[in-house]
Amino acid sequence: MRNRLFRTKSIEQLQASVDEPGPGHGHLKRTLTAWDLTFMGVGAIIGAGILSSLGTGLAGGFDSSYGVTRPAAGPALMVSFLLTAVACGFTAFCYAEMASMIPVSGSAYTYAYATLGELMAWIIGWDLLLEYAISNVAVAISWGSYANNLLQGVGVRLPGWLTLDSRTMLQVSEEFLKAHPDASSLSARLGYLAQAKSGVLAGAAVFPSWNALSGAPILGGFPIGMNLLAMLITIVITALCAWGIKESARFNNVIVFVKVVLLLGVIVVGAFYVKSANYIPFSPNGLKGIQAGAAIIFFAFIGFDAVSTTAEETRDPGRDLPRGILGSLAVCTVIYVGVCAVVAGILPYAAYRGVADPIAHAFSSIGMNRVAGIVSVGAVAALAGALLVYQLAQPRIFMAMARDGLLPRWFAHVGPRGTPLNATWVTGILVLLPAGLLNIDEVVELTNIGTLFAFVIVCLGVLVLRVKRPEALRKFKTPAVWVSAPLGILFCLWLALGLPKHTWERFVVWLAIGLALYFLYGVRRSRLAAKA
Ligand code: ALA
Repeated sequence: MRNRLFRTKSIEQLQASVDEPGPGHGHLKRTLTAWDLTFMGVGAIIGAGILSSLGTGLAGGFDSSYGVTRPAAGPALMVSFLLTAVACGFTAFCYAEMASMIPVSGSAYTYAYATLGELMAWIIGWDLLLEYAISNVAVAISWGSYANNLLQGVGVRLPGWLTLDSRTMLQVSEEFLKAHPDASSLSARLGYLAQAKSGVLAGAAVFPSWNALSGAPILGGFPIGMNLLAMLITIVITALCAWGIKESARFNNVIVFVKVVLLLGVIVVGAFYVKSANYIPFSPNGLKGIQAGAAIIFFAFIGFDAVSTTAEETRDPGRDLPRGILGSLAVCTVIYVGVCAVVAGILPYAAYRGVADPIAHAFSSIGMNRVAGIVSVGAVAALAGALLVYQLAQPRIFMAMARDGLLPRWFAHVGPRGTPLNATWVTGILVLLPAGLLNIDEVVELTNIGTLFAFVIVCLGVLVLRVKRPEALRKFKTPAVWVSAPLGILFCLWLALGLPKHTWERFVVWLAIGLALYFLYGVRRSRLAAKA
């Protein structure tokens, strides 16, 4: 049994499974260039993180369900950005080395199979669901709120309960929770809701989202709420992914251009409105605030690694994957620090508390409504692009796992247009439902812990292969690998420690479910097992 769990797939076996995918399961099309990949990386990186979570990083936040208060980083969030970029930089080197060595579409999942064995590979494959599918839930929710703002701007008003999930609607204010500590339980909150509905309590003083909550249909005492727009955009983007990779890449290239121009515009225009007084105090909660800020805005950096999932659709993966991974991370780091400096300089940091669209908010607060409107339009386009990249990445991980027998073969089916059709639609459904029903903050935190875990495994994997396969061809080598990979691991752990306790608990539950599935299915169906 022990041998089974730790059996690894050699680099040659991994390559062969791409070259001979089996009857009825065609090849993906090799059309992408280094430029496409860099664009794709920037497309994946710039999304809900900089457009939404920036506000929580600057001003902190409060979640009444857990009674968790997040310390604000304040203007020192710039330092959080730099530290996170360094952590991601070390990891990006490791991804680049792995991708140049094993150009197979499974990314961290495949690298774990080659280094740490099948059990770890399965765990990472399962964990990557958090990174790709669950992060997309956050991006879809963020898209939904920006799109809703725009619709309101042109006079279309959706009922509030069709724009927010039930849990977010049921959040109570920090002051109310202090005075009524029982309101941390769901049943007590439902009681307060009933009182507010019957006019005994002033609903708006208890529930910050009272506008939406007051009109929500009630089923068995529970208010129904959903993010309808998030669900709709998920369907549209999934259909595009099923249509074709080249079409998807083209759509993405256009949107990436919009994103970069938008954020550069924010930096250039915003720089004129920065007041140095807003940088004081620079670091209101010291290192604790910087760490909490970094743990949140880490979400904004996720995506450079997604480039590696297109290995089988890249013309020269050994050369182009490292370029795409490192190039996209570098471009985004420069842009992020600039945007953060400007946004933190326009208003005092505390003004961003609870603000879901911090960049637009900064401009509208200083009377520049036109600029704020342009930012919102750009954000809707930018988020649609980010959604696309993850909707492309997740099915390719499923495909790699199915090829290895860890998932049913059905997931590896390639449709007539050269895309993994079944896996793409499964991903669509996996994102659609939680996007409609979950709260963005909890989704961001869960994504972050899952991704940090995958990063640690990739950094570890590079070291393992340096020892086990020193002779293997590496078109890209991590500089000073024995220093940079361990530093990558330490930085990732530091970021994960900045996440709240309930995120860790959920992560452990998630991994336990994954393990159960492996022992029920994968361990027996694995193709490696069949050959053994
Ligand atoms: N980096 C991606 C985003 O910010 C996940 O949306």
